[in-house]
Amino acid sequence: MADVRIFSDRAEMAAAAAEHFTEVIAKALAENGEASVAAAGGSTPKVLYELLAGDEYRERINWRKMLVAIGDERDVPPDDERSNFRMVSRSLLLPLDVSDDNIVKWETANGKPEQIAERFERSLKTAFGLGSGKVPRFDLIMLGIGADGHTASLFPDTKALSESERIAAANYVPQLGERRFTITFPVINNAKNVMFLVAGADKAEAVKRIVEGTGNDDPLPASLVRPTGGTVTWFLERDAARLLKRV
Ligand code: 6PG
Repeated sequence: MADVRIFSDRAEMAAAAAEHFTEVIAKALAENGEASVAAAGGSTPKVLYELLAGDEYRERINWRKMLVAIGDERDVPPDDERSNFRMVSRSLLLPLDVSDDNIVKWETANGKPEQIAERFERSLKTAFGLGSGKVPRFDLIMLGIGADGHTASLFPDTKALSESERIAAANYVPQLGERRFTITFPVINNAKNVMFLVAGADKAEAVKRIVEGTGNDDPLPASLVRPTGGTVTWFLERDAARLLKRV
């Protein structure tokens, strides 16, 4: 059973998530001298990133020893207000002065979709020092979910859901009428630790189905996040958790 933590509001959820993030990463740095995180996109994690870049947390992690990958991306230029890289960069990477050498992002302004995904995959493997056929093992992968149960840019009924070889994919999302870029389940389910950060009443149905395993005959994408030998921790704001059975 996943570790489910419920908080009265977004600020309390973000504070607890910042503590968890720091504990997981500090442990990896102590054990290995380096650590890796795939950062979630969307809007929810922004306040967490700002906390990590703030006075209370910034000194607790040696960001020069960190690899930060952008877990998924929209098909927009990096300076577009919808860009996940732009959000992570402004809230976390720039304030912490994280070097470009420590960042793996999607070069969305440069090439055809498949080329963008292939380039990201090559950069990620190079950053991890991996040969072909090997899958990166992140110390931490951060994820959000949508009301439809998508996670990263793995949306219901889209091609990338069934990707079992590639670690990065371009993924056309008909329900949005747009292309996305995303890490795939081989990477997500190879993580040492996964943390979900979810807020808002609109996510409550999906949270219930995923956390309680109901509807597993027709699993939502986030239900397929089951890291082999990895932990899963849910950080839920109260409204997103409101349909969960009280234990
Ligand atoms: C994205 C994300 C996506 C996000 C969820 C939740 O690019 O949008 O990677 O998976 O985590 O859609 O988004 P909010 O945090 O904005 O609710």
